[in-house]
Amino acid sequence: MNDTTVPKIEMRNISKAFPGVLANDCVDLKLRKGEVLALLGENGAGKSTLMNVLCGLYRPDRGEIYIDGKHAEIHSPRDAQKYGIGMVHQHFKLVDSMNVLENIILGLRDEPFVPDLKRVRDRLVDLANQYHLDVDPNASIWQLSVGEQQRVEILKLLYRNAEILILDEPTAVLTPQESHELNRVVHVMKREGKSAIFITHKMEEVMEFSDHVMVLRKGKVVAEANTAETTPRELARMMVGRDVLFQIEKKPANPGKVVLELSHIEALGDRGLPALKDISFQLRAGEIFGIAGVAGNGQKELAEVVTGLRRSTKGKLQIEGKDMTNRSPLEIIHRGVAHIPQDRTSVGAVGDLSVASNLAMKQYRSKPLAAGVFLLPKRILDLARALIEKFHISTPSPATQVKFLSGGNIQKTILAREIGAARTVMIAVYPSRGLDVGATETVRRQLVSQRDAGLGVLFFSEDLDELLQISDRVAVLFEGRIMDIFDTNTVNIDHIGMLMAGMGEEEGT
Ligand SMILES: Nc1ncnc2c1ncn2[C@@H]1O[C@H](COP(=O)(O)OP(=O)(O)OP(=O)(O)O)[C@@H](O)[C@H]1O
Ligand SMILES: [Mg+2]
Repeated sequence: MNDTTVPKIEMRNISKAFPGVLANDCVDLKLRKGEVLALLGENGAGKSTLMNVLCGLYRPDRGEIYIDGKHAEIHSPRDAQKYGIGMVHQHFKLVDSMNVLENIILGLRDEPFVPDLKRVRDRLVDLANQYHLDVDPNASIWQLSVGEQQRVEILKLLYRNAEILILDEPTAVLTPQESHELNRVVHVMKREGKSAIFITHKMEEVMEFSDHVMVLRKGKVVAEANTAETTPRELARMMVGRDVLFQIEKKPANPGKVVLELSHIEALGDRGLPALKDISFQLRAGEIFGIAGVAGNGQKELAEVVTGLRRSTKGKLQIEGKDMTNRSPLEIIHRGVAHIPQDRTSVGAVGDLSVASNLAMKQYRSKPLAAGVFLLPKRILDLARALIEKFHISTPSPATQVKFLSGGNIQKTILAREIGAARTVMIAVYPSRGLDVGATETVRRQLVSQRDAGLGVLFFSEDLDELLQISDRVAVLFEGRIMDIFDTNTVNIDHIGMLMAGMGEEEGT
């Protein structure tokens, strides 16, 4: 790399404080034209904050931004747009009831009052082809999968001629296949001379997507490197400040009585089509039962049926031998079932409540936290402090509203609450999504120790390595059916891969 060229973007000495935290502390960042910079750091390190400063959502307390060597005044996202900067946020900002085309047009100031829809559509289709971003312009946003919605967000920015694309954990919500496609989009962008800043917690993606990498810790830059000159292990160490175990120690399982049993369960998906077909399996106390499969093959529906959030149309669900088919979520919670949901922002946490209230939410009706009808705030606070420490939730205080935490720390709050509330069965749906490597390690350990404490754990993951490492048995889900069930000690990973793609002898039986 030639250091004499003027960087496309230079952030100098950026600081930004929030009540109780210094989110960015004298940060310098350089991005060159045609370069992809990966931004790494633990949950709460200040990555989203730094990027929100760059795209005009936050005003820094101190520091300057230079674009093409010239001082830039960025006071709003619109200013940022003028400089060619566009951001896809950790949580999308599309309007659900509108269609793709309308979302693209929304907020375009230089379009005529009645936009020429045909012209917009033609350009959109051209861009979609050029960048391999396949979407139907007439589809309503609510009909699209998260992956498709993300493509719309990216198209929206490209339509506005973005030269610098900021992607805040874009792959946390994508299937491995979709992540691969996103990588292709980024490559086309580079070829066109565009640049990108890419936030991720996945080391393989840093290696695959980026040219340069920068690590933040507690708001400060702690390391920078050319991607080709570093390793995932080294990056993880720089992030966390210690060696990270990619392997979890685990004793052989000691399965006991059946805690959860599904017999011939069927259910419909959101669009009224069959999503689960003849699902039968038993989960025992003291074992981790993994569900493998490409997302969208019935995982979400299966988790929802088991937790009472979705009706089954056929079959039987038993918890500890008791018929619980189509019982309410509350009745199921009362049987000691806890649930880390897939969609944690809309169903998992209550943003306006404090961290402590969110942590205590599931426990304050039962013994240790409530005496009669009177809540005991001191106990809630003690519980909260213990969980904050155990799960390394970074928050200014237990009284801070959850909406002010970083994305990953909101997730840790839900995880801590659910793991604390489980008595018989733990349903964990993609529990390590959006978590940094250290937190991922903690979660995996917790699942294993829950198992060793005698719970049955139903564990959903898209990461086959993780799944085989943590689970004792694995079922492969494809198009709503269980293709086969394996013992993880004897399994052949290629065979699982084949079944996940719908190939194998069991097909159609
Ligand atoms: N609007 C806000 N109000 C108050 N505090 C905030 C706000 N936004 C961020 N913070 C705090 O600033 C710190 C950095 O948060 P940020 O969202 O930048 O982290 P992050 O590196 O993106 O983490 P993650 O990987 O979890 O998304 C956190 O302690 C967070 O609680
Ligand atoms: Mg973030």
